[in-house]
Amino acid sequence: MNKIKTAVFISGEGSNFKSIYRNSLKEDYPFEIVVVISDRKCDGYEFSKSIINKTYMFENYKKCHFEKEVHNILKKNAIELICLAGFMKILGKEFVKKWEKKILNIHPSILPLFPGLNTHTRVIRQGMKIHGSTVHVVDKGIDTGTIIAQSAIAIDNLDDEKSIEEKIKKSEHYLYSKAIRNYILNFYFKKNKNSLKNKKNKYSKILYSI
Ligand code: GAR
Repeated sequence: MNKIKTAVFISGEGSNFKSIYRNSLKEDYPFEIVVVISDRKCDGYEFSKSIINKTYMFENYKKCHFEKEVHNILKKNAIELICLAGFMKILGKEFVKKWEKKILNIHPSILPLFPGLNTHTRVIRQGMKIHGSTVHVVDKGIDTGTIIAQSAIAIDNLDDEKSIEEKIKKSEHYLYSKAIRNYILNFYFKKNKNSLKNKKNKYSKILYSI
């Protein structure tokens, strides 16, 4: 299977990027990471430099300059898909339009609940017992695009922001690569994602927090 040339945008630890990268090396994941873009010096950037030649950092760039430079790099490298993995800049409408339906994002909440920043803090404040993550297509709104996949975690009384972040990231590392794979098969190759579903346990999709 041809692999879709993919760019990953990061701003932080880069743990989602690492898990996507590891999966991209497997034969049945139809994407290869060709370019990594970071908007700051961060752990994800340091890691990326050691494995992806085309790793770029654009610190303190004005949004329009950042987007122009990045667009050129992506075009030059024939990039077909962009995955935002903990990327904390909001992309401009023009950029999003140019890459319509070709940008995915992972957001740490069960959208449409809790769009925006500091989701773990707000989830605790609201006394939520279930929280999670969403992979969605990026459109011109903030965390409003078509939802592709979601995962849920239970929150218990002992949880705090740190422990929630750990649980969330663990679930994201499972979710994001699979969601990217399904999206590519549906959108780029027009294959039915049901062919990939794990049919072992028919109750495996029900999550409880009691
Ligand atoms: C992830 O939890 C991701 O969902 C979140 O940032 C974290 C990045 O972690 N993304 C956003 O908040 C986007 N608005 P990582 O750098 O270890 O992958």
